[in-house]
Amino acid sequence: MSATPAPSTAPRKKVTIGALRTMKAKGIPASYITAYDYPSACFADAAGIDMILVGDSGGMTLLGYKNTLPVTMDEMLHFTKAVCRGAKSAFVVGDMPFMSYQSSDELAQINAGRLIAEGGADCVKLEGGRKMAPRVRAIADAGIAVMGHIGLTPQSLSAAGGYRVYGKTRAEFESILDDALALEEAGATFVLLEAIPEEPASYVREALKVPVYGIGAGRNMDGQLLILHDMIGAFVGDVSPKFAKRYANVGQVITQALTDYVKDVKERQFPAEEHMYPIDPAEAAKIREYMAQRGK
Ligand code: KIV
Repeated sequence: MSATPAPSTAPRKKVTIGALRTMKAKGIPASYITAYDYPSACFADAAGIDMILVGDSGGMTLLGYKNTLPVTMDEMLHFTKAVCRGAKSAFVVGDMPFMSYQSSDELAQINAGRLIAEGGADCVKLEGGRKMAPRVRAIADAGIAVMGHIGLTPQSLSAAGGYRVYGKTRAEFESILDDALALEEAGATFVLLEAIPEEPASYVREALKVPVYGIGAGRNMDGQLLILHDMIGAFVGDVSPKFAKRYANVGQVITQALTDYVKDVKERQFPAEEHMYPIDPAEAAKIREYMAQRGK
C-alpha cells in the first residue's frame, strides 16, 4: 500500500473553543467539513481545516442509508474514534444520532459523554431548537460543549416536510430566531444554521454572542460547513443541495481507476515486473529443481 499524502510540515496548534471564539471576534471565518474516517480526517487536518463534524450524514455517505434515521450510537462512535485518530489539530464535533438524546436529559448526557470520553470528540452536536434546549442545558451542565443545529434538521424531516429552505417567511424566521436564542440561553457553545437564506441567517448570527456556523446559510456566518462527499463528488445518492459547491469529482476518478484495473487484470497487464518481488536466480533454480524432483 503506498503512503497517504504527507501532512503539511509545520504542525498546527490544536483548534480550541477559545481559538474559535477569537476567530469570530477577529472576523476570520472557520472552515468546517464533515469526515467519518481516519484518512479523511488526516487530509482535512493537512489542508488546514479548522473544524470537523463527524456527522450522522455518514450513514448516507458511507453506509448507504436513505436518510440519517437508522444511524446508531455504535456507528457514530466508530466514525468518531477513527476521525479523532487522524485529526490532530482540527476541532472535532461528534453528531448525536436520532433518538440518542430526544427522550430524556439523562440519555442525552450519557450519549454525549460517550462521544467525548470514548469517541474523543471536543464537542457534540444535536438537532432542534426550543424543544431541545433542556437537553442542551443538561449536556452543558455535564461540562460538555454543545453545538445546536437548527433550520433544516435532517433527523426530523418527516415531521418538518422534507428537504427545503427554512426561514423564508417572517413567522418561520421568528421561530428560528427564538430557537437560536433558546439554545444560547441553555448553554450552547455554538449554533449551526442549515438551509436558510442569507439575510435571515445573518440576523440570527448578529443576535447571538456564540459563534454561528452555516451550511447553506449564506456568507455572513462565523464559518462555513460542507459535507465532504458533496464537495469532492463522492456522494452516491439522490440528495444534491444547492449550497454544495463541488471542488472535485473523486467518484469519477475512483470509477476510472477501477475500470482501468479491471482491463489490466483481464488483459494480464497487471501485475507488471515492477509489482513483483525479485528472487535470487540461484534460489529460483533450486526451487525449480525441487519441483522437478517432486514431479517424478
Ligand atoms: O450530519 C451532518 O453532516 C449534519 C450536517 C448536514 C449539518 O448534521
